[in-house]
Amino acid sequence: MSGTQGDGPLAGQAALITGASAGIGKACALSLAAHGMDLVLTGRNARALQEVAQACQAHGVQALSLAGDLTDTGFVQTLAQAAAHVDVLVNNAGILTYAPVLDITTEQCAQMFATNVVAAFDVTRAVAQQMVQRGRGGHVVFITSGAARNIVQHGVVYGATKHALAAFAKGFRLELKPHRIKVSEIAPGMVETDIRKGSTHPDVLKSLAARKFAPLQAQEVADALVYALSQRPDSASDLIELRPAFG
Ligand SMILES: NC(=O)c1ccc[n+]([C@@H]2O[C@H](COP(=O)([O-])OP(=O)(O)OC[C@H]3O[C@@H](n4cnc5c(N)ncnc54)[C@H](OP(=O)(O)O)[C@@H]3O)[C@@H](O)[C@H]2O)c1
Repeated sequence: MSGTQGDGPLAGQAALITGASAGIGKACALSLAAHGMDLVLTGRNARALQEVAQACQAHGVQALSLAGDLTDTGFVQTLAQAAAHVDVLVNNAGILTYAPVLDITTEQCAQMFATNVVAAFDVTRAVAQQMVQRGRGGHVVFITSGAARNIVQHGVVYGATKHALAAFAKGFRLELKPHRIKVSEIAPGMVETDIRKGSTHPDVLKSLAARKFAPLQAQEVADALVYALSQRPDSASDLIELRPAFG
C-alpha cells in the first residue's frame, strides 16, 4: 500500500508510535501519515526520528518527534502528556539479542524485559488512562512477534518477553473493552530490519547466515496496521499473524 490516501477513514485521527525512528515503526509512521493521520513519534535517535517526522509532514499531516528512552519512567510521563490527544497507540519499540540461553547475560535479559515488556506496559497504561478519561474510545496496537507463541533456538529470552507482551495485549483488551478501546496484536515473523545487528554470538551468526527463506518487509507490517485501524467501529482484529511464506 503506498501513495497518499488522506481522505479515508483514518484521516484526521492521531496516533502515537513508539520505535518510529527505524524499521517497522518508521514504515508504520509513513503509512499512517499517507492515510492522513497526525502523529507523535518517539525513539531514542533524535536525528533519525526528525527525518521520519519530516517525511510524514510531507503528506500534509502534523508529526511531532519526541526523542527519549522508554525505559525512563519520567520520559514516559512526558511522552504521554504530549500524546494526550491521540486516538491510537502503536506499541512497537523493542530490542532483540539472540544468544544461546546458557550464554545470554542477566543484563541482556533484563534489558529486553525492560524495553519489550515493562516500557510497553508503562506507555500503554499512561495513554489508555487518558483515552478512558476522554471517553471517546481508542485503539491500542501491540507489535509482538511470531515469538509470542513459538520459542526458537537462541531466542528464548526474546520469546519470553513477547509471550508476556501478548498476555498484556489480552489483558488490556479485557479491561479496556467497556471503554470502547480496541486492542489489537500484530505478530510478524522475521522482518528485514536492523534489529538483529546487535546479536554477535558466533552460533547465532552461523544460523542467521544459513537462513534460506526471504523475510517479511516492514511495509507488510504497516499494511496490517492500516487494515486493523480501518475496521468499522464495531469490528476488531484481535490478532494478525504474518509470516514469511516459506520460513
Ligand atoms: N524485525 C523483525 O524480524 C521483527 C519480527 C517480529 C516483531 N518485531 C518487533 O517489531 C518491533 C520493531 O522492530 P524492528 O525490527 O523495526 O527493530 P529496529 O529496526 O531495531 O527498530 C526498533 C525501534 O525501537 C526503538 N527502541 C528500542 N529501544 C528503545 C528504548 N529503550 N526507548 C525508545 N525506543 C527504543 C528504536 O529506536 P532508537 O534506535 O532510536 O532508540 C527503533 O525505533 C519490535 O518490538 C520487534 O520486537 C520485529
